Amino acid sequence: MTTVQDQATDLPLTVVSKIRLSTDVVGITLAGAGAEPLPQWEAGAHIDVQCGDLRRQYSLCGDPDDRQRYQIAVLREPDGRGGSTYLHDTLEPSDILWVSRPRNTFALEPASRYVFIAGGIGITPILPMLAGAERRGADWMLHYGGRTRAGMAFVAELGRHGNRVRIHPQDEVGRIPLADALGKPDRDAKIYCCGPTPLLDAVAGASEHWPDGSLHVERFSRVALDTDTERGFDVRLASSGGTYHVPRDRTILEVLTDAGVDVVSSCEVGTCGTCEATVLEGVPDHRDSVLTPQERKEGQYMMLCVSRCLSDTLVLDL
Ligand code: FES
Repeated sequence: MTTVQDQATDLPLTVVSKIRLSTDVVGITLAGAGAEPLPQWEAGAHIDVQCGDLRRQYSLCGDPDDRQRYQIAVLREPDGRGGSTYLHDTLEPSDILWVSRPRNTFALEPASRYVFIAGGIGITPILPMLAGAERRGADWMLHYGGRTRAGMAFVAELGRHGNRVRIHPQDEVGRIPLADALGKPDRDAKIYCCGPTPLLDAVAGASEHWPDGSLHVERFSRVALDTDTERGFDVRLASSGGTYHVPRDRTILEVLTDAGVDVVSSCEVGTCGTCEATVLEGVPDHRDSVLTPQERKEGQYMMLCVSRCLSDTLVLDL
């Protein structure tokens, strides 16, 4: 598998500060070398960060109007692939970190009201959205859950929003009461949710009665494949004619990589768009957060790290 590192377009940023935001989260502030402003971004955007040999995505959580600095917050994930431990344990102030230009697959669409729901480190893309909602004069409410208060970043800073923000440390008050938060559908409101997969699934279930298009989510981890309901399928590569079987418990990316096919990837959770492939035949089962509803319907492209197939065979332009 090839991890993308693009030093032709990546920016070498200096670590200005690294501070502890909670028991498990550090905040990292990055700045460019000169007075040149950093590329613009909007709430919901993320950057790819080169963490040693790995490339990982982190949401920008600072102020989009500050063109001199980027801020990210990083949860230590000891069982992860090593990106967060590099940033926690190895990275020092004054180090150079190579990052991509900001990309946004979780943009804040216009609405009169917003319900924001964040789980754990999923608060990071939501933070600038609160300011964005305020700028638009929209009404909003944030439900922010985590395992413990001490492990939740930005709790003190969110206090200034008063009762628009509900903090739900699970060990004190239990999980976010989604049935209350989403009980009444609102055609003028949009729901933005970021956090671990069980929270995203629960929010999807609790908002089923809302109008189509109300819910916007960003995933930080890949949804586990349910071998009781998934089905296998074949993938044929147009260039070589090689056909590979993708069993119910594996992804297309894993199968092609194991077969020695050079497929470029980065996030492996369907959020960055790096592993996009052109579909020549077959019906993709889209599970990414990159493609728009229209692009999904057209079925011309798919993300190999998470998406699957509704027909028996997919033919890819690889
Ligand atoms: Fe990021 Fe597939 S590797 S979307």
